[in-house]
Amino acid sequence: MQANIVLLPGDGIGPEIVSEAVRVLGAVSDKYGHTFSFTEHLMGGCSIDKYGSSLTDETLADCQASDAVLLGAVGGPKWDDPMAKDRPERGLLALRKGLGVFANLRPVKVHPALIDSSPLKPEKLKGVDILVIRELTGGLYFGWPKGRDSKDGRMRAVDTLEYYDYEIRRVIELAFRLALGRKKKVTSVDKANVLETSRLWRQIAVQVGSDYPSVALEHVLVDTASMRLITGPVHMDVVVTENMFGDILTDEASVLAGSMGMLPSASLGASGPGLYEPIHGSAPDIAGKGIANPIGTILSCAMLLRHSLQLEKEAEAIEQAVDETITFGARTGDLGGKLSTRQMADEIITRI
Ligand code: IPM
Ligand code: MG
Repeated sequence: MQANIVLLPGDGIGPEIVSEAVRVLGAVSDKYGHTFSFTEHLMGGCSIDKYGSSLTDETLADCQASDAVLLGAVGGPKWDDPMAKDRPERGLLALRKGLGVFANLRPVKVHPALIDSSPLKPEKLKGVDILVIRELTGGLYFGWPKGRDSKDGRMRAVDTLEYYDYEIRRVIELAFRLALGRKKKVTSVDKANVLETSRLWRQIAVQVGSDYPSVALEHVLVDTASMRLITGPVHMDVVVTENMFGDILTDEASVLAGSMGMLPSASLGASGPGLYEPIHGSAPDIAGKGIANPIGTILSCAMLLRHSLQLEKEAEAIEQAVDETITFGARTGDLGGKLSTRQMADEIITRI
């Protein structure tokens, strides 16, 4: 097959990991006879530096016209001024919104050979296989009004947590559909004892759940969920939650996998291209050294092949190669090893 993939390497370690992931995609296309063409754009801090905007209209339009978008990471100390008009993160949020990718899939699996890389006790980690689905284009990140004013002679800042019923329904429906192909359990995470948006969330989860009698639905408050992720992660299958809760819980969940560098994500809409990115950030402290773990990005490519190009066999080939590479003992610095980004990718490519 022929596919157009837009690359947004971004800032920090982004370019290093994306170029290795592209080599992996090249190995897959050689082996299975596909043609992937790549168009690269600046996005994030590097785009602010060159164009004065974290996401230009042209870049967004190219992404919208593509089959899939692969992103590295954005941000860094250089663009961290909280008062700046534009920030790298704004570009990322505008891209998610502009692509309409409302569901962010963040799978968290613990490789048996990495159990000791996690600070958790090994017996808690055996068999952990969670799919967190984070709502990505609504909630506190996008609600209106938002901003600052002064009231009674004091500075005031406002963010709004807002959800429409359809925004909640579509992401919960996806959670149930994906649960059917897994252990048939959905954990809906909310704060329904306090927030009205969460009470609506819970109501819709119950409604959607009644269409999926074979899937067990449980509701867990977000504070309890954060605890259970550590005390009993093996009991979780599909976890679905609103934007901000999902942001926080997935960083927490990444600790289970031994390193944030391992975890991929896919952001999907109702139609149109998906957006694929590792869940880690731009890691400015190690940028340019060629030592970042490329696995999160490489596994994001597997998700890209699966969800945007319907190439399941090819996706599994990448996942299996990563699995074998870890079993074999290949480790970058974040996992306590010495391999460079390039060497780690080579190990994976050899196994494809
Ligand atoms: C993530 C990141 C982003 C988010 C930041 C960089 C805006 O933390 O993808 O989890 O909060 O969504
Ligand atoms: Mg985050």
